Amino acid sequence: MIDGGASESAYRILMGVLESRTGQTLSPNRIWRIEMSLKPVMQRHGVADLDALVAALVTSTNRQLLDDTVDAMLNNETYFYREHSVFDDIAATALEKLREINAQRRSLTIWHCGVSTGQEAYSMAMLLAEQESKWAGWQVQIIGTDVSYHAISRARVGLYSQFEIQRGLPIQRMVRWFDQTEGGWLAKADLRRRVEFSVQNMLTDRPPLARPADLIFCRNLLLYFSPAMRHKAFARLRVAAAPQSFLVLGAGETVLGQTDQFVASPRLRGLYEPAEQQLRRPVAA
Ligand SMILES: C[S@@+](CC[C@H](N)C(=O)[O-])C[C@H]1O[C@@H](n2cnc3c(N)ncnc32)[C@H](O)[C@@H]1O
Repeated sequence: MIDGGASESAYRILMGVLESRTGQTLSPNRIWRIEMSLKPVMQRHGVADLDALVAALVTSTNRQLLDDTVDAMLNNETYFYREHSVFDDIAATALEKLREINAQRRSLTIWHCGVSTGQEAYSMAMLLAEQESKWAGWQVQIIGTDVSYHAISRARVGLYSQFEIQRGLPIQRMVRWFDQTEGGWLAKADLRRRVEFSVQNMLTDRPPLARPADLIFCRNLLLYFSPAMRHKAFARLRVAAAPQSFLVLGAGETVLGQTDQFVASPRLRGLYEPAEQQLRRPVAA
């Protein structure tokens, strides 16, 4: 028995379902929270406890129950301009470099893989919109994908609570890009139209990109994969990446010892580049 009285096999099955559907493994501190996370799902579907939930998952073909269960076990933690200096560095270096690289075709494709409820993609969209003169005449595509349909539905709506909006978003941006409504802070249409969101499992689905991605954010997602899944994930990111592109990982993540698909950028601190095709020219000061 673990914690709330459910059988160990119930926990094992739930963890197996999560891993097979998303690649995610649960760290020990999150296993203890499974029951709490799944309570609203059990209530919504009229299931008495974890054992009954597992029995229903195993014996029924209720797709909604399966989706809701997996969704509730995912860690969707995110906020605007998470690790703020990463965005400052990208604005100062990677975007400048990509302007040089893509100067002829004048297109920029950014993929936020594991975007959760959208804050990371909206952060980039605001940043680029505020550099309007630099990107005039460019085709800019910002795509946010996540395996969680609940997170993606929220991202598409673009409605954030007072707590969420204050986390990382300076007041000027809050007022410029969001309207205060009864339900919370709603992203203005001009911001929402700059980002496309879709439900995708990055381990199995092809990202909906019009072109190979110039800049890929894959932050705070890979750390919950097993080494084998992580290896596979890097291979998927590599396929989606333009030959001269940058990959952004979370603060606690690295490619070192994980993959040979990407290498630390020798020029741009904290970023990664596809292996073999490292950018040849140094970034102008
Ligand atoms: C902790 S959040 C990070 C959000 C954002 N990237 C950030 O750093 O603020 C991790 C997200 O990855 C998503 N995720 C987990 N496994 C995934 C998979 N196989 N494919 C796509 N998204 C996945 C989760 O649903 C979750 O929303």
